[in-house]
Amino acid sequence: MNDVGDLTVEGDIGVLTLNSPPVNALSAPVREAIHEGIKQAIADDKVKAIVLICDGRTFIAGADITEFGKAPSGPSLFDAQDMIENAPKPVIAAIHGTALGGGLEVALTCHYRVAVPSAKCGLPEVNLGLLPGAGGTQRLPRIVGAQKALEMMTAGTHVGAKQCLEMGLVDELVEEGKLREGAIAFAKKVLAENRPLVKIREQNDKVEADRGHPEIFENFRKANARKFRGFLAPEYNIQCIEAAVNLPFEEGIKVEQKLFRELVTGTQSAAQRHVFFAERQVWKIPDVPKDTPIIPVESVGIIGAGTMGGGIAMNFLNSGIPVTIVETKQEALDRGVATIRKNYENSAKKGRFSMEEVEKRMGLLTPTLKMEDLGTADLIIEAVFENMDVKKDVFGKLDKIAKNGAILATNTSALNIDEIATAVKRPEAVIGLHFFSPANVMKLLEVVRADKTSKSVIATSMQVAKKIGKVAALVGVCPGFVGNRLLAQRQREAQKLIMEGAMPWDVDRVLYDFGLPMGPFAMSDLAGLDIGWNKEKSKGETLRDRLCEMDRRGQKTGAGYYDYDEERNATPSPVVEKMILDYAAEKGINRRQISDDEILERCIYPMINEGAKILEEGKAIRASDIDIVWIYGYGFPRYRGGPMFYGDTVGLDKVLGKMKEFQSQMGDDFKPSALLEKLVAEGKGFKDL
Ligand code: 3HC
Ligand code: NAI
Repeated sequence: MNDVGDLTVEGDIGVLTLNSPPVNALSAPVREAIHEGIKQAIADDKVKAIVLICDGRTFIAGADITEFGKAPSGPSLFDAQDMIENAPKPVIAAIHGTALGGGLEVALTCHYRVAVPSAKCGLPEVNLGLLPGAGGTQRLPRIVGAQKALEMMTAGTHVGAKQCLEMGLVDELVEEGKLREGAIAFAKKVLAENRPLVKIREQNDKVEADRGHPEIFENFRKANARKFRGFLAPEYNIQCIEAAVNLPFEEGIKVEQKLFRELVTGTQSAAQRHVFFAERQVWKIPDVPKDTPIIPVESVGIIGAGTMGGGIAMNFLNSGIPVTIVETKQEALDRGVATIRKNYENSAKKGRFSMEEVEKRMGLLTPTLKMEDLGTADLIIEAVFENMDVKKDVFGKLDKIAKNGAILATNTSALNIDEIATAVKRPEAVIGLHFFSPANVMKLLEVVRADKTSKSVIATSMQVAKKIGKVAALVGVCPGFVGNRLLAQRQREAQKLIMEGAMPWDVDRVLYDFGLPMGPFAMSDLAGLDIGWNKEKSKGETLRDRLCEMDRRGQKTGAGYYDYDEERNATPSPVVEKMILDYAAEKGINRRQISDDEILERCIYPMINEGAKILEEGKAIRASDIDIVWIYGYGFPRYRGGPMFYGDTVGLDKVLGKMKEFQSQMGDDFKPSALLEKLVAEGKGFKDL
């Protein structure tokens, strides 16, 4: 056996221990260790039963994701599983940490499973655009039935050990911290009681009970249609469970294998695997090492209790961190605090937590009109009006009040943070924490590094983000930072497209079908067309001015680009259609037929190009960070991997070709970035950077 596996014999129990940090993923050496280790244990006459256990933080957490797409080597997972399942002696899986994907599938070929109470089991392949490809789709329904299997596999949930015990996925819980002893004791019991060698593949009761009930699947599909929209993997998982219910085990496995191969070689899974690694990379900052000193953040100050300030405050209150929130007027303060309370009470009404919890969280909030009350806060976040003079004034005052070492953050969405930092004598303490609205809901946080921001302020901000459950991406100071800078490209093109020949609903349909949660015009209607619009100054110069002047200010007024009914269902508006035609005629625009392909390319390729400029300028660390920003901040479909990964899948040569074509027709909005040109010249993609 190789050095990943270790077989020891204790009395008549053979213990095969796997040790392949960090998560004992099923790489070729691990598969070999299982195959050879079990084989040796079978050959050893002293061994009467076998325990399969892992060292380190977890039981096998799945296939080795880095191996997908590479040439297979060593014994297959099926070889290793067959060795276990066909062993003439009981094999017991001993689970701690997480038995996930291929890890759980290995455990399901064991004759018995024991776990510590903190362990979790799951088949999360769907999150990687996959399905369990080592028999899991056929074995899980044989234990838990079709309904539970559908839920577990299409959501990829990690199920706690206690629940696993109730579902029959685990046979016994053993004392926390004593897995090895507990598993050996269990193995001895199996021998003493002469228990059978249970093969899940032969257990048909559950699937037979579900046979002849196709409504289980149809209802499930219907109930989840919205959630699964665009993704291939959930449907493929469902088809495998249908096969488990309707076909003999061997036939079901054939369906599983066929569908698995299709997914694992497809673009969606490649994209979702890219996102898996991107989500982990995004926390790593090359010039801010892991041992950078962290500033303890035990209290937070927030300036401004408006839309953003209140939402930001909730993040900290939810995490048990006390917040002092400052406003200029009592009325604004009361309104802000009341909104926070109302949000919490609504959550309590929906059963998310108790009313005591509401009070507990509100109890952590100190509203005040005195900025001096921020003197003890470790982190202060400014969320006042988006105006440079106002912000500088606030920071100037803050400089005199905040204690030494406090982090001074701004939530500005577009102002130059380097300039804001000139208002203080400690620019190294200044950073951007750009939350997205609604700040208590949206997962993304852009951490904006200014010229002089210290490493320790950066490291602390990233850690704080993690603590409050955000996904943080470190970006640099530039107009719109990363997320809105890409958005601006798309918005510009969307507006141009409706002048040139498309209608708002054409643009929206194309982008919705591409996988975005909604198109730009539906989004504008939702946000309100009057954000940043000035009634006094409005002179009907833009389409937006004209809509607002007609009081078509979006969903809230029942009309915007679309008409809305009482349930806020949108229908294309003939009024808007006419307005667009009139406006275009006034401007002398010759409208033309615009294809769906052109809509998509004009909205998305300039975003990719802008992403390349951002990379060129060093305003994002890596292309995959830009993908994370757009997935978590704007709902870019995970199955497309984010805009930059999408660019790679389309082919950067094609993106560049189109940009040049558009540039020659429509000018420098489409000027290709130097990086894009360079990558194409070298035959590379963003993935190669
Ligand atoms: N393969 C390769 N690397 C993996 C991995 C895997 N299955 N799971 C985790 N890693 C790596 C991570 O990339 C990370 O590497 P890094 O330190 O270089 O960034 C490291 O292991 C630690 O991972 P986390 O930072 O995620 O550690 P956590 O402790 O937060 O979480 C975990 C641990 C819950 C196991 C989490 O890593 C996880 O969810 N992993 C993926 C599980 C999964 O999806 N399994 C199914 C795989 S597909 C499959 O099994 C197909 C089969 O059906 C044939
Ligand atoms: P808002 O107008 O809802 O709230 C601003 C609040 O700040 C008001 O309640 C105001 O009374 C208060 N305020 C003004 N000056 C103050 C001062 N000197 N001291 C204390 N309080 C003061 O504005 P909103 O939308 O919350 O925006 C705040 C900041 O967040 C802006 O910089 C904005 O660009 C940014 N932002 C806004 C997003 C959004 O979607 N609304 C998204 C991301 C960032």
